[in-house]
Amino acid sequence: MTYFTGFTCVHCAATYPPDRDLLLCPKCHNLLEADYDYARLAREVDRDALWRRPDDVWRWRELLPVLDPAKIVTLGEGGTPLLRSERLARACGVRELWLKSDAANPTGSLKDRSITVSATKAVEFGYGVLACDSTGNKASSTAAYASRAGLRSVVFCPHDTPVPKMAQAIFFGARLIRVRGHYSEINAMYRRLIGSGEVKWYDCGTDNPFRYEGKKTYAYEIAQALGWRAPDRMLHPAAGGMSLAKTWKGFKELQRLGWVDGLPKMTLVQGAGCAPMVRAWETGAPAIAPVDKQPTIASALAAADPGLLGARALEAVRASGGAAAGVTDPEIRAAMRDLAGEGLFIEPSGAVTLAALRRLVAAGHVDAAESVVCVLTGSGFKDFERIVEMVEIPGDVVTGYEAMLAAARQVA
Ligand SMILES: Cc1ncc(COP(=O)(O)O)c(C=O)c1O
Ligand SMILES: [Zn+2]
Repeated sequence: MTYFTGFTCVHCAATYPPDRDLLLCPKCHNLLEADYDYARLAREVDRDALWRRPDDVWRWRELLPVLDPAKIVTLGEGGTPLLRSERLARACGVRELWLKSDAANPTGSLKDRSITVSATKAVEFGYGVLACDSTGNKASSTAAYASRAGLRSVVFCPHDTPVPKMAQAIFFGARLIRVRGHYSEINAMYRRLIGSGEVKWYDCGTDNPFRYEGKKTYAYEIAQALGWRAPDRMLHPAAGGMSLAKTWKGFKELQRLGWVDGLPKMTLVQGAGCAPMVRAWETGAPAIAPVDKQPTIASALAAADPGLLGARALEAVRASGGAAAGVTDPEIRAAMRDLAGEGLFIEPSGAVTLAALRRLVAAGHVDAAESVVCVLTGSGFKDFERIVEMVEIPGDVVTGYEAMLAAARQVA
């Protein structure tokens, strides 16, 4: 039984039925927002009964835009660990700190939460090929879900995408097309290609309104794990801004259903070298101006022009009384080391939230009494060269037991 009732355009308010294959609003080319029958959901779905289902994205299927549950394409995504860290809470200067590690997703990043939904829709609509443009993680996720569904995949990435992400996509069978330029330039050309009608691929990129919905599951999982409570604040890395905007939608839905009382302050984090949304928040600008992309090790977040979703993310930050921060490469590396100190192996783009928390507490934007969730969005294996740069592999090789013992004595 579905509660998904269709889409409303956020700009012209046109509505569309749930079975339409849509990207942007056909009338005005703005974003579409999925609607649900919340009154019926509140009456018929018991939040506590959902516990008995497998702990994954599809635990929340009544709040996702699928029409045929038999077509769900899943790799068991979602249900990722929410770990409390007393040590890092003290170090950052907040009362309560939780780390939500999406490195534990099947392909190692947050993208699996949303690509499971778009792959499912591709099967529902009868497509043979999944496509996306990507800074790397979306590409490898799209490729994995295409394989799982028995479909083909084509992915477009900036020429300097981290090798492990490209290799992962290719290993899953994707046709990878490397394009010279930075992500926003490629995004503009990719959208033109999809819009041209030259290809009949299912677009799992930024314009897919079904895909967005998968990101709401952050809100549901975190609220449930905290005993149906919203944290005071969520810090989320942002590239296009979809994840942050939809996590905010997820919390508002929970409030509307009466499943949680409060809402978190949504706090957006980017690499300082490419931080158009942070700049808009800091300057109070009504709209996001594109920036000149400068180097940042947070390569997955380097969207110089975040487009329509970016505006929604900024709205969420402002509406929730949140904040935004751009963090430098040394701050990101320090956060990656701090996370390693908790046993967490996180790529630079995924670790920016912890880096930002320190900065925002020091600047007085985060109160010491807050309970905070930092979302960690990708595994260290995803940008493995950055990890290798940060360690020294011993040049010396010991031979035989006596030499091993001598080396061991030096450690002790
Ligand atoms: C590791 C990581 N974190 C966060 C994001 C942010 O995604 P969004 O475009 O939803 O802001 C991305 C997007 O590529 C990513 O790869
Ligand atoms: Zn419209």
